[in-house]
Amino acid sequence: MKRKTLALSLLLSAAMIGMSGTVFSDDDNKKGGFLGNWFGGNKPGVAAIDNPQYLEECGSCHFSYQPGLLPARSWKKIMAGLDDHFGENAELPAEDAKVFENYLTKNAADHSSYKRSQKIMKYMQPGDTPLRISKTRYFLKEHDELSRKMVQDNSEVGSFSKCEACHTQAAKGSFEENEIRIPGFGRWEDD
Ligand code: HEC
Ligand code: HEC
Repeated sequence: MKRKTLALSLLLSAAMIGMSGTVFSDDDNKKGGFLGNWFGGNKPGVAAIDNPQYLEECGSCHFSYQPGLLPARSWKKIMAGLDDHFGENAELPAEDAKVFENYLTKNAADHSSYKRSQKIMKYMQPGDTPLRISKTRYFLKEHDELSRKMVQDNSEVGSFSKCEACHTQAAKGSFEENEIRIPGFGRWEDD
C-alpha cells in the first residue's frame, strides 16, 4: 500500500469507529457480546435494591424504583423537591432524605455497569435531567408500540410509572422481554 492510501484508510477506519460509538443501534446485544464484555456493561437489567429502608419508604406509594434507572443529577432534583412530588407531599425527615440521596446518587445510572442503566444514559442528552424514568428517551423508544388501551385506559395499569404491572421481575431489576405480561393482554410478543 502506498503511504497516502494507508493514511487515508486509517483515517476512514478511525472515523467509522468513532461513528459506531454515537449511532443509536437497535441491536440490544442480549448477552453483552464482545463490546458489552469489553466495556463491562454485560450485567443484565439494573442493579437490585439493597437498602431495605429505601425499599420501604420510597416504595410506600409506588414501585420502588432502582437507583440505576436515572442519573445522579435527576435523583438530586427529585430529592430536593419531595414537598411537591408529582402533586403529592413525600417529605422525609432530613436525615433519612440525606441517606437515600447518597444511596441513589452512588448507585445511579451514570455510575452503573449494568446494561439497562448504560442504555438509559446512552440515549440521554448531556444536559437532560428527567424527573421521570418514563420520560427518558430510552424509555420512550422502548415503549412506543404500546397503546392507550394497554396502559392509561387499562384499569390494572393506569400509567407507565407502574413498571411492576407489566414487568413481572421488575423488583429484581430485570426487564427481559420474555418476562413481560400486560394485564388483560398477556405475554408481549415482539416481531
Ligand atoms: C406520598 C406518596 C409518594 C411517596 C412516599 C413517594 N412517591 Fe414517588 N411518586 C408519587 C406519585 C403520585 C408519582 C407519580 C406517579 C404517576 O404518574 O403515576 C411518583 C413518581 C415517582 C417517580 C417517577 C416515575 C416515572 O414515571 O418514571 C420517581 C422516580 C419517584 N416517584 C421516586 C420516588 C422516591 C425516590 C421516593 C422516596 C424518596 C418516592 N418517590 C416516594 C408518590 C410518592
Ligand atoms: C403497560 C406495560 C408496561 C409498563 C407499565 C412498563 N413497561 Fe417496560 N416494556 C413493556 C413492553 C411491552 C416492552 C417491550 C417493548 C418492545 O420490545 O417493543 C417493555 C420494554 C422495557 C425495557 C426494555 C427491555 C428489553 O429487553 O429490551 C425496559 C428496560 C423497560 N421496559 C423498563 C420499564 C420500566 C423501568 C418501567 C416503569 C418506569 C416500565 N418499563 C413500565 C411494557 C411495560
